Amino acid sequence: MRPLIAGNWKMNGVGESLAEICAVAQWIAETGPNADIFIFPPFTLVARAVVAASNRIGIGGQDCHALPSGAFTGDVSAEMLADAGATAVIVGHSERRQSCRLTDAMVAARTTAARRAGLLAIVCIGETAEQHDGGLAQNVVIAQLEGSIPPDANSTTTVVAYEPIWAIGTGRTPSLEEISRMHSCIRAQLEGRFGEDGSRLRILYGGSVNTTNAATILAAPNVDGALVGGASLRAGEFAEIVGTSTGSSSLRSPFAL
Ligand code: 13P
Repeated sequence: MRPLIAGNWKMNGVGESLAEICAVAQWIAETGPNADIFIFPPFTLVARAVVAASNRIGIGGQDCHALPSGAFTGDVSAEMLADAGATAVIVGHSERRQSCRLTDAMVAARTTAARRAGLLAIVCIGETAEQHDGGLAQNVVIAQLEGSIPPDANSTTTVVAYEPIWAIGTGRTPSLEEISRMHSCIRAQLEGRFGEDGSRLRILYGGSVNTTNAATILAAPNVDGALVGGASLRAGEFAEIVGTSTGSSSLRSPFAL
């Protein structure tokens, strides 16, 4: 499966940060990595990021409302993102689930909205530290998967990102065995629900992915890419992670790390 590497900039980046996107786009033009590459800047940069990406990087929003328009101060719809040139959107990120009190049903509605607007939806799921320590991770993730992915999802419109909350921004990652176990559990659920197409639906890992651990994580079974936070902010680190995902050591980032 062609890997998908996505950089989630969260609430980081101003106009001058577009230079990082230009640098990654240039690197892609020179090395042609065999991966789908996306960057999710804050809403304010989406339209300019699309220009900076020169069609080499997909640009997406970090969330969208379920409705196309209306009296929802501060929200942005999937249609608005598409209008700004975005081709993807992250839905159900744990930071949004928390700050907007999103339920699985709301995440599913946003996933449907993404499809309606022609955007690829990256649907995030993942357990808290307490759930992990209590041995509940698989049950939690299965329930989130069931509730957050609408029945009409398919492998061309939807990507799943497993992001254990306790691994986000902490420098801690699950063991390789834990990642493999969870991803194969997610794969089994997707195949049970979507049949053969469920085996093509990409499952990304996210949470403290960096240039040191990316190669090992990305080589694990049923890990079809990564959703990278902090390490996606600089072109050099992000390009190195993308190069790693293709399994080719000749694809090294030309940027100073
Ligand atoms: P970090 O890579 O900074 O841990 O963030 C992961 C994440 O939340 C990506 O969506």
